[in-house]
Amino acid sequence: MHGSTDHAHFPKDQTHVIRKASNPGKRISVIGLGYIGLPTAAVFASRGITVIGVDVNQMAVDTINRGEIHIVEPDLDMLVQAATHEGLLRATTVPEPADAFLIAVPTPFMDDHVPDLSYIESASKAIAPVLKAGDLVVLESTSPVGATDQMAAWLAEARPDLTFPQQAGEQSDIRIAHCPERVLPGHVLRELVENDRVIGGMTPRCSQAACELYQTFVVGECVVTDARTAEMCKLTENAFRDVNIAFANELSLICDKLGISVWDLIKLANRHPRVNILQPGPGVGGHCIAVDPWFIVSRTPEQAQLIHTARRVNDSKPVWVIDQVRKAVAAIATERKCAASDVVVAAFGLAFKPDIDDLRESPALRIVADIAGEFAAQVLAVEPNIEALPAKLAAAGVSLTATQDALDRADIWLMLVDHKPFRTTPPPRRAGVRLIDCRGIWDRGGAGDTV
Ligand SMILES: NC(=O)c1ccc[n+]([C@@H]2O[C@H](COP(=O)([O-])OP(=O)(O)OC[C@H]3O[C@@H](n4cnc5c(N)ncnc54)[C@H](O)[C@@H]3O)[C@@H](O)[C@H]2O)c1
Repeated sequence: MHGSTDHAHFPKDQTHVIRKASNPGKRISVIGLGYIGLPTAAVFASRGITVIGVDVNQMAVDTINRGEIHIVEPDLDMLVQAATHEGLLRATTVPEPADAFLIAVPTPFMDDHVPDLSYIESASKAIAPVLKAGDLVVLESTSPVGATDQMAAWLAEARPDLTFPQQAGEQSDIRIAHCPERVLPGHVLRELVENDRVIGGMTPRCSQAACELYQTFVVGECVVTDARTAEMCKLTENAFRDVNIAFANELSLICDKLGISVWDLIKLANRHPRVNILQPGPGVGGHCIAVDPWFIVSRTPEQAQLIHTARRVNDSKPVWVIDQVRKAVAAIATERKCAASDVVVAAFGLAFKPDIDDLRESPALRIVADIAGEFAAQVLAVEPNIEALPAKLAAAGVSLTATQDALDRADIWLMLVDHKPFRTTPPPRRAGVRLIDCRGIWDRGGAGDTV
């Protein structure tokens, strides 16, 4: 897939202009060429630095070597094309010697919410044979506290001929740091350059080496700390968001019980100069906010009570939304003396947040799949950012359609994701339609009966 050519996200002079290297001759290797690794590799290459990208996915490697991209991110296609054309970016499945290695592999959790470090382990073991004295290894993947130390232990075990910071401190052959990534999908190229970076070396010398590396393209501040604090910093940022969203989601349940509009309530409360409540939604999705707080909970279950509860509140919101649909389907079937399967439900939005095409871990997707499976109702999905439904939804009988068709045909309008095209004007009221608005954009202005 190719990213858009909208230059608004990235200053023009940085999209495809390759600058002269400030430290010519240095080679950087980025391990994991996904949403984080590939833009990072391309931005280093845009500074004239030779970058070797490593990925276990042969398709990704081949695509990049053709100067193309396999992920969606505005302007990345041009940057990768220019970098490969100039010979500054090359992808491979087998690690090669370099002066610095940046690891950006996935860090999911397992069934019991325990972090899965197996990708970091295999990436560490893959680069170990090509390490040499003086190299820097940076862990960029979002990681539980202690993962950087663990990575250093795996490297040391594989290379007893080299010394590491846990053994030799400042005198170590290999320098190791954690530098978490906090870019926003859709704005990655700009944020990579502009955001401040938290850099946590295993020793001050490790931090210094990592700072010098990032300063080749980061114009934000590089703030130095230790590796464990840097790990916890990234987790804290996402746990903070999760807890605040959970507060809004819990309020939406309380208000529903009390017959109060949560949207009006939040507007009023936010007039207080020191109150800033977020908006409720159908749940929390994506691969960061819904995942990272578990890394804190799994390490400190006794202490992380609030963070754990927030995860539970946000994870249970889709169940509540499905229950709302269940009640609406039953009410319509009773009113019309028809079967539940005759009721048509239209779901607006499937992505995990507005204005993106990413359906990974999306609560909206889960809600629509569950409704289609449970009620055998006719389910229409409107998602302006995709061209085909995921196989799971298509197999469940869901059909992808246009906004107006869904508005015309459905008995229940289920607003799940407030994409821009949905936000412009609330659709005019149609008699008998029930509206379940999880984003508060249609349930004012007489769009229908609110359940
Ligand atoms: N995507 C984001 O918005 C975002 C933001 C901040 C932090 N992060 C974190 O960055 C890390 C990477 O996330 P992502 O979104 O880029 O993931 P991704 O799935 O898009 O990319 C990861 C890549 O690593 C490759 N890979 C897996 N194991 C490998 C190995 N042993 N050697 C080489 N390559 C390997 C995969 O094939 C894949 O291409 C995760 O820890 C994530 O939590 C992501």
